[in-house]
Amino acid sequence: MFSNDQIQVIHALKSIARDQRIKRYIQQSEDLYPLLFRAAQRFVAGDTREHGISKGLELLNKGYAISLEYIGENTRTAEDCFQAKDEFLTLISEAGRHLISPTISFDLSHIGLSVDRELAFSNVNELAEAATKNGLSLMISMEESEKTEAIIEIYKRAAETYSNVGITIQAHLHRAMNDILELLDYPGKIRIVKGAYQESPEIMLPRSEELNERYLQLVDLLATKNHPVSIATHDEVIIEEVRRRGYLKQANTECEMLYGIRSDLMQRLKADGYQARVYLTYGTEWYLYLCHRLAEYPENIYAAIADIVEPNRTNKTSY
Ligand code: FDA
Repeated sequence: MFSNDQIQVIHALKSIARDQRIKRYIQQSEDLYPLLFRAAQRFVAGDTREHGISKGLELLNKGYAISLEYIGENTRTAEDCFQAKDEFLTLISEAGRHLISPTISFDLSHIGLSVDRELAFSNVNELAEAATKNGLSLMISMEESEKTEAIIEIYKRAAETYSNVGITIQAHLHRAMNDILELLDYPGKIRIVKGAYQESPEIMLPRSEELNERYLQLVDLLATKNHPVSIATHDEVIIEEVRRRGYLKQANTECEMLYGIRSDLMQRLKADGYQARVYLTYGTEWYLYLCHRLAEYPENIYAAIADIVEPNRTNKTSY
C-alpha cells in the first residue's frame, strides 16, 4: 500500500503529532502558527466557532449532514476542561439555532479524561443534557489505545441515560469486534473508523486487505441488526462494498467523511440519494489533526507546501 519511504514519513508525522513541545512551540510562534495554519485550512473550517458554523451552514444548504468539533485533546487542567466544556455548550446552543440536527463530536480528553475520569463523565452528561434540549446528538471520538477502556466505560454510563450519544470504534484494534458486540446493547450510533493513532502491532492491524475485511465485518454486524452506524472512511472500495450489500439504503446507515477529503466521493453519494455527513472542525488546536491528515495520505504534504507558499490558490476542495 505505502512504499518504505512513505511508511517512514508516516511514522515520523505520527510521532511528532504527539510531541507536546512542538505543538506548544507552533501555537506560540507568531511566524509558524499563521504559516502552518494555511495548510491546516484545507481540513479545518477556521479557528473560531463562527467559522465552524458558517461552513456548516454552507454545507447544509448543499444537502449534507454535519458533524462539528471544537478541536482539542489531552487538556491538562480542570480549569481548561471547564473552558472547553463551556465552548461546547455555546456551540450546542448556537448550532441548535442555526444548523439542522448537527452532531457535536469531541474527544473525552478535551473535556476531562486526562485530568480525572469523573470530570469527563460529568462534563459529558452536561453536554448530553444540553444537546437533548437543543435537539442535537453527540459523538464521542476514540483516542489512543490506553484510553479505549475508559472511553467505552464513560460512553456506556452516559448512554444509559441519553440515547443521543454515540461512540467511535477503531477497526484497526483487535478488540474492535468484542467492543461492538457489547455496545449493541446501547442505543447510540456507532461510528466505525480505521484508526488514526500509531499503536503496537500486538494490538492492531496496519492498513491492509485484512483491515478492510474486518471493517466490513463490523459494518455487517451493525447494519444487519439495523443499529445506527456511521461508515466513517474515505476508502472507496469499502464504501462501494457497503453500497453493494444494500446497507446505504437503510435509514440508520450514513457515510461520513472529514472535511477536505474526497469531496468528489461525498458529492456522488449525496447525488445518489445516500446520507452523506461532513465532519467539520474548528479551533486553534489543529496541530495534531493536521499531522494525522498528512500521515494518512503523504501526498497531502505537497498540497500543504503549496498552501503555505501560495495561500490564495483556487484549487482547494469544493463540495
Ligand atoms: P485509508 O487511510 O486506508 O485511506 C483510504 C483512501 O482514502 C486513501 O487511499 C485515499 O484515497 C483516501 N484518504 C484517506 N485519508 C486521506 C487524507 N488524509 N487525505 C486525502 N485522502 C485520504 N480516527 C480515530 O482514531 N479516532 C476517531 O475518533 C476518528 N474519528 C473520525 C471521524 C470521521 C468522520 C472520519 C472520516 C475519520 C475519523 N478518524 C478517527 C480517522 C480514521 O481513523 C482514519 O485515520 C481516516 O479516516 C483515514 O482512513 P480511511 O478510512 O480513509 O482509510
